[in-house]
Amino acid sequence: MTLPIIIDTDPGQDDAVAILLALASPELEVLGITAVAGNVPLALTEVNARKICELAGKPDVKVYAGAIRPLLHNLVTAEHVHGKTGLDGPVLPEPKMPLQKQHAVDFIIETLMERPAGTVTICTLGPLTNIALALIKDPRISSRIKRIVAMGGGFFEGGNITPTAEFNIYVDPQAARLVLNAGIPFTLVPLDCTHQVLTTKDRVAKFRTMKNNSGPAIASMMDFFERFDAEKYGTDGGPLHDPCVIAWLLHPEFFTSRDVNVSVECESQLTMGMTVVDWWKVTNRKPNATVCRGVNADQLFDLLTERLARMA
Ligand code: RIB
Ligand code: CA
Repeated sequence: MTLPIIIDTDPGQDDAVAILLALASPELEVLGITAVAGNVPLALTEVNARKICELAGKPDVKVYAGAIRPLLHNLVTAEHVHGKTGLDGPVLPEPKMPLQKQHAVDFIIETLMERPAGTVTICTLGPLTNIALALIKDPRISSRIKRIVAMGGGFFEGGNITPTAEFNIYVDPQAARLVLNAGIPFTLVPLDCTHQVLTTKDRVAKFRTMKNNSGPAIASMMDFFERFDAEKYGTDGGPLHDPCVIAWLLHPEFFTSRDVNVSVECESQLTMGMTVVDWWKVTNRKPNATVCRGVNADQLFDLLTERLARMA
């Protein structure tokens, strides 16, 4: 029985690896990929999503463009991490596959209303703007989403775009607060987890030597993507954030987690976008997320390597 999913994304090299992992996994049925403004503007994230599908040899995947900016704040992007294209590293051809005409938010709503309630999982790899807009436009969908699995936030590890905020949440904190408080089953994969999943030289070497297009292309993306973080953190390789979302879907046993309350700072300029995680349950705030903290990175990379080797 395959698990139908929608991937909401702002590619981004780590998004690319997550998308390839999903497309290479027969356990998952990718109903569509919805692009959102984040790492780079929407005009690039939607093109990058299509480039990744073509790299995977899957030009029939439906890609939709969504929000061009966050709900309230001006868009903050991350070219300093991902390069000006958002997918710097390999030179990938301009996509031939079409962008779907339907807006991503309408696709999300239509899919959730048409499919049996509680069957579709939404995997978010970027700011939560599209999901928040869908919930605002048609609140009925909140009871029809099986689960949201989101890369975002951080608590014990602090932030990566400010000292207290992780990028996906920081870009659109109001969207994150709205989605977290919508009563939808929610798994959060924060920096506390993804910072343990490092693109070490040995791991990237396995991608580089694959006898397909995807492996070497991903290795080239990792070479570019890690240069900023490896230097910042002084580590062998950078944290591979977004594939952790897909890996959790496929193998939740690779992770340790706790059901706790996650609140998002939307007022303070100093800590805007901070995910305040009540890990020790010192408040009476109701748990609203399964927050991952531990991960077996070796098992995750073994899965990733095995699945990427299957790709075109
Ligand atoms: O903070 C890391 C997250 O922000 C990842 O999803 C990365 O792709 C960027 O979107
Ligand atoms: Ca991302």
